[in-house]
Amino acid sequence: MTATLLDGKALAARLRSQLAEEVAPWAKRHGLRPTLAAVLVGDNPASRVYVGKKQQACRKVGLESRLVELPADVSQARLLETVDQLNADPGVHGVLVQLPLPPQIETQEVLRRVDPRKDVDGFHPENVGLLVQGRPRFVPCTPAGICRLLQHYEIPTAGRHVVVLGRSDIVGKPMANLLLRRGPEGDATVTVCHSRTPEPARFTREADILIAAVGRPKMVTADMVRPGATVIDVGINRTPEGLVGDVDFDAVRQVAGFITPVPGGVGPLTVAMLLWNTFQAARGQVEQAG
Ligand code: GUN
Repeated sequence: MTATLLDGKALAARLRSQLAEEVAPWAKRHGLRPTLAAVLVGDNPASRVYVGKKQQACRKVGLESRLVELPADVSQARLLETVDQLNADPGVHGVLVQLPLPPQIETQEVLRRVDPRKDVDGFHPENVGLLVQGRPRFVPCTPAGICRLLQHYEIPTAGRHVVVLGRSDIVGKPMANLLLRRGPEGDATVTVCHSRTPEPARFTREADILIAAVGRPKMVTADMVRPGATVIDVGINRTPEGLVGDVDFDAVRQVAGFITPVPGGVGPLTVAMLLWNTFQAARGQVEQAG
């Protein structure tokens, strides 16, 4: 059996065109464009690529994007001041600080400083708390995109065993919380494995849905996957042989029922969800003010 490909790129294009159709009349009615401000610190090449993709995607759907670039040796105080300015600017509806930040920066303090109503990444503790309570406001973009992908391909989560590899604040933890929500988009039984889990294969082999978000090239091998399972690969690893995921794609696709490619799987959906979060932020701020 060869797995069906979950085409995140195509779904993201559909979501963007739906969003563009909603944004245009809204922008006309309110006489403004929803605006995302991205803060890029230093010159991490991957971060620069990701931020560039986010900005380009904004333009495609009629959102405005601003880029604030700061040097790698920026002080904590200067970065916080930048966030404060964006928070106070009524022309900015969404604020994101691209991660990772340089070592002199206390990341948690920066994330806490973003106005929770402009926190389109969903990383502020207030938004994390709302998600954990099952009443999300802004859902972190990668887990939100994975849920959309599963819905689109009618892959149910309710009552099924989902194994998440990785416990990051950006993917693993919010993913687990989304899947635990009550209702048809959640209701999963969730296992989270991480770097201190002995023999993760014991768990992954039991998974109906396996989500790999560890940042280790090809760590998920065919013997770790139950035949017919759905495999979602969040990894984007730069290796001498090019971009590879956390899943050994060529081998695992022979076993899995559904699988995401890298690139063209989860990545484009992450960007699409960011655009939706930005529009949602703008609606929240403008409609509340009016
Ligand atoms: N770095 C890797 N993923 C993300 C993300 O979703 N948002 C931000 N701000 N930084 C990241």
